[in-house]
Amino acid sequence: MSNKTVPDPRRLMARPGPRAALVSLAVGVLAAGAALTFASSANAATTLGASAAERGGRYFGAAVAANKLSDSVYTTVLNREFNQITPENEMKIDATEPQQNQFTFTNADRIVNHATSRGWKVRGHTLAWHSQQPGWMQNMSGSALRSAMLNHVTRVATYYRGKIDSWDVVNEAFADGNGGARRDSNLQRTGNDWIEAAFRAADAADPTAKLCYNDYNTDNWTWDKTQAVYRMVQDFKSRGVPIDCVGLQSHFNSGSPYPSNYRTTLSSFAALGVDVQITELDIEGSGTTQANTYRNVVNDCLAVARCTGITVWGVRDCDSWRSGGTPLLFDCNGNKKAAYDATLSALNNGVTPTNPPTTPPTGNPTNPPTTGPPTNPPTQGPGGCSATVSLNSWNGGFVATVRVTAGSSGTNGWSVGMTLPSGASVTNAWSANRSGNSGAVTFTNVSYNGRIAAGQSTEFGFQGTGSGSGMSPTCSAS
Ligand code: G3I
Repeated sequence: MSNKTVPDPRRLMARPGPRAALVSLAVGVLAAGAALTFASSANAATTLGASAAERGGRYFGAAVAANKLSDSVYTTVLNREFNQITPENEMKIDATEPQQNQFTFTNADRIVNHATSRGWKVRGHTLAWHSQQPGWMQNMSGSALRSAMLNHVTRVATYYRGKIDSWDVVNEAFADGNGGARRDSNLQRTGNDWIEAAFRAADAADPTAKLCYNDYNTDNWTWDKTQAVYRMVQDFKSRGVPIDCVGLQSHFNSGSPYPSNYRTTLSSFAALGVDVQITELDIEGSGTTQANTYRNVVNDCLAVARCTGITVWGVRDCDSWRSGGTPLLFDCNGNKKAAYDATLSALNNGVTPTNPPTTPPTGNPTNPPTTGPPTNPPTQGPGGCSATVSLNSWNGGFVATVRVTAGSSGTNGWSVGMTLPSGASVTNAWSANRSGNSGAVTFTNVSYNGRIAAGQSTEFGFQGTGSGSGMSPTCSAS
């Protein structure tokens, strides 16, 4: 169905093999079914999965908890309505590798078998993440952690090879708020290339699964976090890093509402040559308002040819991680809500899919948006800035995290200089360009974090050998 419905020539040239063969097959299937017809009300599909399948072979899935598979109300709804599953917690690192190099797949297998025995797709969630790490991993750093992370990716992706439609290879690696920086974490501190290293390991272990980057607060096209993820995917595609898809979690509520430019976000990512999937959809609310937002989300996905599927984050409201917000399609008794009717009707009515735009849409970050993020856009022109450094040191090495704070008029770019102590040198840096590796070293902003609103901050980091104590950074802004 949705697998690689539109081939990416760069990806295919770079990586021939089983993945390329699958793409060719999928393209043929798509061509054969190019004349999409939408169901008349007389023979409209009556379930979410069946209707989504009729919309260009999309899926409609749900996050599933293994311990609920013995609940007959739950499984009645699940088995009737959906054709894709994401394990809600059972494939996370703490679940699959609770002790280092001791892997446990029992609960994840229950979910995978439930899906594959019915011909449904499975989304693997997730191979590398700063959260839900087992204790042994939380206490690791540096090259030992990098190796452990890559070993985990390799072992889990190998175990499930051939059973996973899409893997969330890396989850939630970007920070919220202005600046578009990477999230600080033990994985990030192993070096900025940890994400692409994880993708390469997943690709080697399972060449047929689609490999995705998954995050939240990446729904609004104007937000710095969205733009930062976009730039990373753009960079990966230009350098041949194996990435096939971007997952938008899309947890919507009054604090993080459905944005009117959601369709632009979906189509902009798709235009990079990746599939886009709505991976953890839930919309807090009730009645008509909630139903209309579900309808909008479905219509936006259907309007983008490479939006290949939607997964809701749970089956019934009571199954939700945010059950108080009643964010799902079924009430606690398994009855269909107004949101369900709107979702099914939007799927059945269909929206004519469009091909990805051949030119980037307005506001594409290769020309940074002039309007800036929704709050506190930086003013134009030079302004002051300051920088502070914090150290995580061990015998013979350190990781420095540098916080750059804009002065009263915001920055369009920044440069931070500091002198390393005698005998210290930089081995790698992230979220900044660097000149020099010992003595006087200068760091400048990268494309996505030069613009800082007045009073706001961004962070970059570097790893070094020797002692980093006593560094005193200075900052100049442009
Ligand atoms: O099962 C144990 C139970 O035995 C124990 O008594 C109880 C005590 O707290 O914990 C239970 O485990 C909880 C688990 O959910 C199952 O309910 C964990 O504490 C709790 O941390 C865990 O929360 C999960 C959360 O991720 C953790 O980060 C949610 O279920 C899950 O829905 C949520 O999913 C995340 C996605 O992975 C990534 N995107 C955001 C999304 C929502 O937070």
